[in-house]
Amino acid sequence: KEIHEQPDAVSRVVGRFVDRGARTLAVQDPLSFDFADLSRMTVSACGTAYLAGLIGKYWFERYARLPVDIDVASEFRYREMPLSANDAAFFISQSGETADTLASLRYCRKAGMKIGAVVNVRESTMARESDVVLPTLAGPEIGVASTKAFTCQLSVLASLAVRAGVARGVISKEQEKTLVRALSEAPRYANQVLKLEEQIERIARELSRYSDVLYLGRDTNFPLAMEGALKLKEISYIHAEGYAAGELKHGPIALIDENMPVIVIAPHDRIFEKTVSNMQEVAARGGKIILITDAEGVQTVGHNVAETIVIPHAASFVAPILAAIPVQLLAYHTAVAMGTDVDQPRNL
Ligand code: F6R
Repeated sequence: KEIHEQPDAVSRVVGRFVDRGARTLAVQDPLSFDFADLSRMTVSACGTAYLAGLIGKYWFERYARLPVDIDVASEFRYREMPLSANDAAFFISQSGETADTLASLRYCRKAGMKIGAVVNVRESTMARESDVVLPTLAGPEIGVASTKAFTCQLSVLASLAVRAGVARGVISKEQEKTLVRALSEAPRYANQVLKLEEQIERIARELSRYSDVLYLGRDTNFPLAMEGALKLKEISYIHAEGYAAGELKHGPIALIDENMPVIVIAPHDRIFEKTVSNMQEVAARGGKIILITDAEGVQTVGHNVAETIVIPHAASFVAPILAAIPVQLLAYHTAVAMGTDVDQPRNL
């Protein structure tokens, strides 16, 4: 149910941060700082929220030329990194209550930083203790495994990265329009992705027979590969790992054989060919490839792929928001096929 709510939820976020008609960012609550004054940004979160932040890092660095330090909160709070009171720290959390993330927030507050919270629960402690609250508007998330909160976090971070790019003079009016258009189209595309569910269910039934799965991706699809692995292990209890595709040859390739399905997340982008060469390495070792790509990707890729899940060809800026959905559906249907409790995984 929550996976299916994503087109509406993402649309709410886009509606809040974007003026769809003017194709610009919407006039919104003033921030207590100017992105132009920052020399870097610190981001801290746990689990899926951390992986959303990692995708955000690519966006902030690419579209706003703003360096981002990001850590899992349980490391950040203890690792004594130098912090500057002139910089801002953002904390991402569905609940707004996660202990390590909250402790990191208080740690940055003590260091005199400006504090922003990307939270779903607006009455949460993190929201109360922040200078700026960016609500993810996903609605209550009841399933323990985060799904719609993740894509809404991504939508907020994407909007914020564009805003930072404009404030820092990195993005022209034309580029702002292009990026805003891409964001505005995301909900419609997300709806189309949901129509792939029958195919994904069939692939998931097959996946449920394996005990290890590898996820690969490059660029923003690398954190998404880790999110896919996290989702699968947490609700189906199948062991899964997410890797940067370029790291394959530095170790994990030793694991590849016919018993290791490899899920490659690769909508067509400027480094697609690089990922294709990683797929060839997998195929040469008998690995079964499940490729999540778009129509352009299908045209380029060879025939060594066991299954192809074809999502709409969107701007690569918003591609992770769309590719997240098949990743979630794969985990969901694998868990259903195995008979595990999808809403309330053991030990969590
Ligand atoms: C995974 C999942 C967790 C949470 C993490 C942080 O599906 O839901 O990894 O993302 O526990 O929780 P919040 O976002 O509430 O801080």
